[in-house]
Amino acid sequence: MTVLYEKAADGIAWVTLNRPDVLNAINMQMRDELWDILHAVRDDPDVRCLIFRGAGDEAFSAGADVTEFGTAPSYVEARRARRERDLWWFMMTLEKPIIAAIHGYALGAGIELPMACDFRIAADDARIGLPEVSLGYIPSAGGTQMLPRHIPIGIAMQMILTGDPVDAQTALRWGLVQRVVPRERLHAEAEALARQVTSRPPQLVALAKRSVHEGAELSLSDAIAVESKLAERALFAT
Ligand code: COA
Repeated sequence: MTVLYEKAADGIAWVTLNRPDVLNAINMQMRDELWDILHAVRDDPDVRCLIFRGAGDEAFSAGADVTEFGTAPSYVEARRARRERDLWWFMMTLEKPIIAAIHGYALGAGIELPMACDFRIAADDARIGLPEVSLGYIPSAGGTQMLPRHIPIGIAMQMILTGDPVDAQTALRWGLVQRVVPRERLHAEAEALARQVTSRPPQLVALAKRSVHEGAELSLSDAIAVESKLAERALFAT
């Protein structure tokens, strides 16, 4: 299994990227397994919050599996799979909060995946970057679009155009992660945050998450109309 899925207490479930020998590089098999897990989570009323993490000491994920670039499955096949099974979009529209607990390297898709989560907590050893331009391509799993939505555009531009990774404290200062904690506290702190969210009414958490994401796609006036509609629904949700 390239992904481990464990249900814990209090409605919390862990998703562990599990290819530690290759720094949890995301290959097609991992994408497929994540796709299935996320569908199971969507349909499981017992699960109210997900936490993503990486196996091993070195990395959350060193990004897309570069050994699959230009090989089987083909580039065309890989792009088609991405379009048809848009993991990031599924995560953003999942009506349950998702936390990324990031340690070590989080590069390329290894930070694009956390950007599709709702909160990012980093260990103090995290190294975060979009190295693609220094490797002969550009970010292509949403990095050029999601990063400037998380942090100011000039800083996003610096990260994207240089490809240089930044440390956890810098990512915190820029707002790319919301907290930095000692490595050994990472999972406990992620779980504490998960508990905080699962202690709130799940229907309201779902509606609020939806309002944020749907609104982000719209003009301010249209977004406020969406908020009003969802707020009305919230009145009857609890
Ligand atoms: N895809 C496939 N395999 C990867 C990988 C990736 N993205 N990142 C690391 N690996 C593999 C290495 O090939 C190596 O495998 P091996 O032991 O069979 O040789 C193993 O993971 C450990 O990596 P290594 O490079 O030896 O570790 P390091 O500590 O010296 O360097 C990095 C760490 C992250 C700096 C380096 O692995 C790296 O630059 N990885 C590629 C990052 C990347 O290009 N990501 C894709 C962006 S789209």
